[in-house]
Amino acid sequence: MLTPGEVKLTDGRSVEFANLDIAATAPCLRVVADAVADLLPFYGSVHRGAGALSERCTREYEQARETVADVLGHGPGDTVIFTRNTTDAFNLLARAVPAGTTVVTFDTEHHANLLPWRNPVRLEAPRSPAAAVEILRAALRGLEGNVLVSVTAASNVTGEVWPIERLAAVAHEFGARIAVDAAQLAPHAPKRLAGLGADYIAFSGHKLYAPFGAGVLAGRADWLDAAEPYLAGGGASAHVADDGTTRWATGPARHEAGTPNLLGAVALATALRALHDRDLATAEQALLQRLRAGLAALPHVTELRLFPADAERVGIVSFTVAGRDPGEVAVTLGRDHGIGVRTGLFCAHPLTRRLLNDDKSDKSGQAVPDLSSGQAIRASFGIGTTAEHIDRLLAALQ
Ligand code: ALA
Repeated sequence: MLTPGEVKLTDGRSVEFANLDIAATAPCLRVVADAVADLLPFYGSVHRGAGALSERCTREYEQARETVADVLGHGPGDTVIFTRNTTDAFNLLARAVPAGTTVVTFDTEHHANLLPWRNPVRLEAPRSPAAAVEILRAALRGLEGNVLVSVTAASNVTGEVWPIERLAAVAHEFGARIAVDAAQLAPHAPKRLAGLGADYIAFSGHKLYAPFGAGVLAGRADWLDAAEPYLAGGGASAHVADDGTTRWATGPARHEAGTPNLLGAVALATALRALHDRDLATAEQALLQRLRAGLAALPHVTELRLFPADAERVGIVSFTVAGRDPGEVAVTLGRDHGIGVRTGLFCAHPLTRRLLNDDKSDKSGQAVPDLSSGQAIRASFGIGTTAEHIDRLLAALQ
């Protein structure tokens, strides 16, 4: 892992920086930085040239695609398209769904999976994984024609893991397809991606310890091959006639116009493969338990959650500190304790507002002045996080 090392505090001491904002942007894995550095001397044109550089770069780009397909357990009808990030992937999918498709999503989604859809059916926030399955089943009962369910696999606000396998089974029972926002699941549980039963999966390199500007939309090729190209331009065009008519490419090229992000794709595939081959859960779940138990013991801190306290989670916890402005808390954590967290509504405004409205008192039930500015604080972690980072956060909050 590439880390910044020590940072200076306001009292003059230096401490190792505790990066607890990994859900927003994860640091770069050493193996990823090495893969990019190894390729840089050979950097050249992908799909567009002849000669050693172009041949190597084209090969590496396509190998990156194969690595992603392999980790996702793809079959012959599937494709991998490199995008900029998860938001870009959902905007692409939203443009590619056949006209008249009904999109069904929950109002708890990250904006990446909320805003690209035109007039989606927005389902009410479920208060448990089982409720999510039942709410979806009830919604699908009344729908006809093409239906696409689009849902997150793990919340970037609460870390709660959604029952994707069960939601996919229900979607398929009703002849619908399901797209999964795996931006927060992929970095924590890449092995699970292949077994989700998803028709489409989207995720981002910068949350996967591969911050080189690439993301992925992967899944069934038919709608994507039939759709208008996402970007019009070179690479997406198979033939442009003198009269201006264009025959578009099929396959991933159709939606990857312009020179592709070779380094981003190689970085993302390298990270995905490296994470896939590691046990991430054991250390992360121990840290999660330590953090949540510590927060639960602080009378003035309230964790935000949609599901019951014992629901499955990844290493993301949002909370409020009674009577304290979240921005002030975050600045103090940074300057006085060397801890990086995020505050705000986390690009999931409806969900975070709803959870903040749940939280009106401290744990004694006493009403406290609302200084939250309608925001929360989030600690998120993963590879590189230590028990000392968690303890330092807890001590600072204390
Ligand atoms: N969606 C990203 C986050 O959760 C940026 O912080």
